[in-house]
Amino acid sequence: MVDTTDQWIRDRTGIGERRVAADDQSTVDLAEQAARQAMQAAGITASDIDLIIVATTTPDRVFPSTACLLQQRLDIHGCAAFDLQAVCTGFIYGLATANQFIRGGAYKTVLVVGAETTSRIVDWTDRGTCVLFGDGAGAVILAASDSAGILSSHLHADGSYENLLTVPFGVSHGYEKLLKREAYIQMQGNEVFKVAVNTLNRIVDETLSHNQMEKSDIDWLIPHQANIRIIAATARKLQLSMDKVVVTVDRHGNTSAASVPLALDTAVRDGRIQPGQTLLLEAFGGGFTWGSVLLKW
Ligand code: ACO
Repeated sequence: MVDTTDQWIRDRTGIGERRVAADDQSTVDLAEQAARQAMQAAGITASDIDLIIVATTTPDRVFPSTACLLQQRLDIHGCAAFDLQAVCTGFIYGLATANQFIRGGAYKTVLVVGAETTSRIVDWTDRGTCVLFGDGAGAVILAASDSAGILSSHLHADGSYENLLTVPFGVSHGYEKLLKREAYIQMQGNEVFKVAVNTLNRIVDETLSHNQMEKSDIDWLIPHQANIRIIAATARKLQLSMDKVVVTVDRHGNTSAASVPLALDTAVRDGRIQPGQTLLLEAFGGGFTWGSVLLKW
């Protein structure tokens, strides 16, 4: 479709393959699969959940929220449910929000999902973006615990970067572009790249110093999977060898809010992540938004 090569994509991004949702699949379909797998792994049933947070930038509908659609799929009724939009940082924002609700005592068992059908907002004639993005969903169950949990979360945003990475139309502005399917991701990739590396370096420092930890205290880095070169730069900052970094960008591409939970799921299921280990999760995305969660597994 565009003037590119497999080699260019692998060399510049680390992406070898990704998934695109079928025409009859939507974000809630992917979210439901991830939610069911998370419930099974956590050994809970849907009726135990008292809050659903879905981080997505590609919701099924303008409203109701994807979280409400997911609640209906899970056949639970009455619990709180809302969507959260922080683009690629959405899952980190979701974890931080769930953590506050649990620590504040409002909710006991929270389902946090990152789910995207980003392929729907990709301009397949733009080689600067169409090679990057994939579809997917990942989910976790959060509950209060004395032995494990989130040590700290750090959330940031800077809207002055609104135009470097954007779908510049929405419901309230340029709705006709949406209807004509002319609302696509626009990105100044090189600029985004530079800000992402610097910003993620800063959030590593912020997270470690807040917890009075050393770089060597981190067992696993679970980064947003946008580009292997951005991931490698953060690993260098942490003086962490790449075998301590969970990398899925080669198989998933950039799945936006789904990328961190997909990477987490991969490393938990293949046995790399073990109880008692310290995990640093981080992400950077449109907004700009960025954030980190430090947790004891
Ligand atoms: N195939 C071949 N050539 C390409 C392609 C492609 N797919 N895409 C761009 N090029 C060309 C450009 O046109 C340019 O050519 P020119 O020098 O003749 O003008 C050349 O490659 C270099 O372009 P750059 O943009 O400088 O390439 P770069 O090395 O920066 O890689 C990339 C581009 C992969 C997009 C990179 O900038 C990147 O990963 N950026 C960050 C993306 C990101 O992290 N986004 C945040 C999260 S996403 C979200 O929030 C939704």
